Amino acid sequence: MSFKTQIQKRRTFGIISHPDAGKTTLTEKLLLFGGAIQEAGAVKSNKIKKSATSDFMEIERQRGISVATSVLAFLYKDKKINILDTPGHKDFAEDTFRTLTAVDSVIVVIDVAKGVEEQTKKLVEVCRMRNIPIIVFINKLDREGKDAFDLLDELELKLGLSITPLSFPIGMGYDFKGIYNIYEKNINLFSGDNKKNIEDTIAFNDITNPELETIIGSAAAKTLRDNLELVEGVYPDFDKEKYLEGKQQPVFFGSALNNFGVRELLDCFIEIAPPPRAKMAEERLVEALEPDMTGFVFKIHANMDPKHRDRLAFIKIVSGTFERNRPYLHVRNGKKLKFSSPNAFFAEKKEIVDISYPGDIVGLHDTGNFKIGDTLTEGENLHYKGIPSFSPEHFRYINNADPMKAKQLNKGIDQLMDEGVAQLFTLEINNRKVIGTVGALQFEVIQYRLEHEYGAKCTYENFPVHKACWIDPENSKSEEFKEFSRVKQKFLAKDKKGQLVFLADSQFSLQMTQQKYPSVKLHFTSEFD
Ligand code: G4P
Repeated sequence: MSFKTQIQKRRTFGIISHPDAGKTTLTEKLLLFGGAIQEAGAVKSNKIKKSATSDFMEIERQRGISVATSVLAFLYKDKKINILDTPGHKDFAEDTFRTLTAVDSVIVVIDVAKGVEEQTKKLVEVCRMRNIPIIVFINKLDREGKDAFDLLDELELKLGLSITPLSFPIGMGYDFKGIYNIYEKNINLFSGDNKKNIEDTIAFNDITNPELETIIGSAAAKTLRDNLELVEGVYPDFDKEKYLEGKQQPVFFGSALNNFGVRELLDCFIEIAPPPRAKMAEERLVEALEPDMTGFVFKIHANMDPKHRDRLAFIKIVSGTFERNRPYLHVRNGKKLKFSSPNAFFAEKKEIVDISYPGDIVGLHDTGNFKIGDTLTEGENLHYKGIPSFSPEHFRYINNADPMKAKQLNKGIDQLMDEGVAQLFTLEINNRKVIGTVGALQFEVIQYRLEHEYGAKCTYENFPVHKACWIDPENSKSEEFKEFSRVKQKFLAKDKKGQLVFLADSQFSLQMTQQKYPSVKLHFTSEFD
């Protein structure tokens, strides 16, 4: 198979949702279609339950599961599909943001009863910023939920999407009769039998055909005709180009648990979703078809065995082929590295592979060489963009609780930060270390892992910060900048890359600072042009 065909057959995407909307269930059904798993229940939920805050065994167990479900690949029709797992728990949102840099498209799952929820909003915003093509799946139609048109309105108003439904429900909850597939022009009747893998569909090109009454009853037939007329009047026709540009989002309805509407979603997905796309590096745009291998690290996972500190770095291949035992340039270190056992992922297993193509994810064993965002090439000096840090939500001083183990503590902090567990800020005024996290859970994870993997002990102290803002070095020579640095000295820190950061202690002080020093540009993510 030619290199080009290999690229064309790959679809690498992520499923995003608020916890409990049905991401795990949908993933599992998709894998069933691909024949990658044999039975329901085989994909373990990667949910961090609330109880995990005090249950470290649970955290460890979850870490194991999240390695297993990091990438789930399967073949469907002639396509190789890579699903990248994105944790729904808000404390791990940063992980999900980073994973979104490695997908070529996403499917958003919405709960029919809950509509658009908080986590969905944040994640879709990130996708929209990057023009990632989005398909929406409204799930749990077997339950009572919101009116379909109200939900479609919500998608537009709360998520800012320009949607067009490609399927439409016939009834809902107790009265759920099935789905009219606008894209394929057929009706799919609901039997509530979740063991069936492929549902029977009834072709229905002409919705005015009186047979509709016989099939779904006259009341439902009338409602469906009215609804479809409204859909046609209100929503634009589906336009694949617009979808690919991130300017239009098709919507499907279904019930993942009942495996209903999932085949339609998957069939449409493989037809319209993009193969691996070109990616912007600081230096230039890199096309998937270029012969030289390039890729970047978007996730690092610590080994489950705390005695061996090796880690698994997940690389998304952007161009060329990644080959076993071939030397690649680690651009940040300037070193050539060879990998004798790169892992590929298939269903819920990982195995050693000789060759991987653009769109694929390769897991590389790492003893501390990689950081999130690192680029690998065949020799070109290239840096992939697009893995920004966002301001953490919680900040605490980290103190060494065992003076004999200072070295271990520093090494541990260093490596955990490389993994992206949290962000480290070093205060300019006294070099004290401050850890910033998205959720409170991470502080306990860090403390636990420092002790068990590095033999170091730490304590925390509160450090009230409202927001971390990255400071543009642009005007750093100006008098205003100098005054700002002097007055705000106590609140200035360096992040891990050495970028200057302003740790504003309240919304008020942030506003005052912006007013008083307008030429000092503050950014809310670590990457800015
Ligand atoms: P998540 O990964 O997005 O967090 O959601 P997950 O798939 O775990 O689904 C959350 C809950 O919603 C699960 O129930 C799941 O069975 C249920 N669910 C998913 N799809 C549908 C659907 O189409 N219809 C209905 N009625 N329920 C659905 P649970 O009770 O929390 O978990 P479990 O004990 O069933 O595993």
